[in-house]
Amino acid sequence: MAREKILVTGGAGFIGSHTCVELLDNGFDVYVIDNFSNSKPDVIKRIETIANQSLTFYNIDLRDKPRLKEILSAHTYTAIIHFAGLKAVGESVLQPLLYYQHNLEILMNLLEYKEGHTSFIFSSSATVYDTKKDAPYKESDPLNPINPYGQTKFMAEKILRDVCYISKTQLIILRYFNPIGAHPSGIIGEFPQAHPNNLMPYLLEVVSKNKDRLYIFGDDYQTLDGTGCRDYIHVVDLAKAHVKAVSLRSQLPEYNVFNLGTGQSTSVLELVTMFKQVNKVDIPYEMATRRQGDAANVFADITSASQSLDWVTKYNISDMCRDAYKWMKLSRKNV
Ligand code: WQD
Repeated sequence: MAREKILVTGGAGFIGSHTCVELLDNGFDVYVIDNFSNSKPDVIKRIETIANQSLTFYNIDLRDKPRLKEILSAHTYTAIIHFAGLKAVGESVLQPLLYYQHNLEILMNLLEYKEGHTSFIFSSSATVYDTKKDAPYKESDPLNPINPYGQTKFMAEKILRDVCYISKTQLIILRYFNPIGAHPSGIIGEFPQAHPNNLMPYLLEVVSKNKDRLYIFGDDYQTLDGTGCRDYIHVVDLAKAHVKAVSLRSQLPEYNVFNLGTGQSTSVLELVTMFKQVNKVDIPYEMATRRQGDAANVFADITSASQSLDWVTKYNISDMCRDAYKWMKLSRKNV
């Protein structure tokens, strides 16, 4: 039987690349669209090395409508998994128009040219939740994103809901909590940014001595040690949930929203302590003031995903710390 074809936008990115590996490992034909705005061309080869299989790759920008139309009509795709988009919360606050234009334009281009029978799996985020409500967050909880990045995810969900409903297209929205870690092989992971906003990328810059210390944003939260708590999930567990969604799509209803987290909450200090213990490294840090917009404690109620996707997370915090460090050493080679 011909292998099912899956189109992955942003497939050279952090979560996209790990998902491509899992899709190939599970017998799907993978077609990637990526413009390398937040990834590198050799990630495609690295995905193929890990999976020991090849994939089809299109180096195009999703704003190139003629090329996108060609690609979407060239094959019958079982599903589109849409990862591509701008995703830096801090940058979105400084450049809101860029975020609204880019993230919504590429989504609407995809919807304009996708075939009706193709299921649409959307990379959404826990940033859509109203964090004034206490965690854990359920999919039915109130939504109230507080930054333009989160707003683009919120608006995308609304656009998708209306368009997929009228075109009778199955929609599967996946709301990620805090993805960290890397493939255990150390061959793919999250590429470092010059000024990382997120905790793990910043921590890795401190460990690789590119930054002199970690600043912990707030130690006076109502949490067990006063520092912020989040639901960190290993990127491979997250990737596997996408394969579950594709594989089980025919048993799922037309409209689906799933939280993808572990259901556990870990503080900044706990993560730092675990990272030091697992990797036997020091991490100089300093307490600093709270970061605007941060909530004390954000973690998922994953009942829905674990039941409907028959999905359980396999990796724990020490695995995430171990794999993140291994990737950092192999990808930077200067530690
Ligand atoms: C985690 C904890 C910080 C950096 C983000 C964005 C978005 C989403 C998930 C995709 C918080 C603390 C952080 C630092 C620190 N991704 N921290 N020092 O804000 O929960 O969510 O990731 O949708 O990118 O919403 O993640 O990693 O920025 O912060 O003390 O240098 O670490 O205060 O408690 P966040 P984060």
